[in-house]
Amino acid sequence: MYIVLTSRLGQYRSEPTPGITPVETHDYFYGARHVAAFVIARLDGQSRVKIVDETDPSGANLVPTKFFQQYASVPEAVTSLESLIGHDHGQARLSRRNPETPTSHMVQITFISNGGKTVEALPNSNLLRVSLREKGGIPFKCGGGLCGTCRCRVEAGREHTDDVKQKERRHLSAEDLANGYRMACQTFINGNVSVSW
Ligand code: FES
Repeated sequence: MYIVLTSRLGQYRSEPTPGITPVETHDYFYGARHVAAFVIARLDGQSRVKIVDETDPSGANLVPTKFFQQYASVPEAVTSLESLIGHDHGQARLSRRNPETPTSHMVQITFISNGGKTVEALPNSNLLRVSLREKGGIPFKCGGGLCGTCRCRVEAGREHTDDVKQKERRHLSAEDLANGYRMACQTFINGNVSVSW
């Protein structure tokens, strides 16, 4: 299911928490004024949306997603947004942000050691960051290539990973690298992969 995270500029913004994955953003303009941003986000079970009051950043609330209108698909959510803003003599319009990154170009990451959990991410996403955001389960400590904890094996899709970094060579032997081992915090993904650890 999908929900819409609404942010009204200078008033409040809605932020995802774990279990909520932003898919695409639509900006709402009225004339030349940028009024609001709508982020269509995928919902993996019940979660909460963080609503931050921009006039008082200490005033954040966590609102359960069950209180949000839910949509079966991204197009359904977009249609709802379009009817919401109306077309007031051409003044109101929705504009999709970064349309050059269509959702069909999302990559899939399968966390084999976590029951085969599969999630989607934007191309060139950092493997450990995706794991943290999506609860993929790859172990980690430092997040910066120092501790060696995030060692994992790319079982499929090695051709979709970027070049091995110097920091990784401190923890991985030539044999490890030949067998597909990487440090998740140093690895970026540009196509479908499956990882174990
Ligand atoms: S988390 Fe420490 S090296 Fe990756």
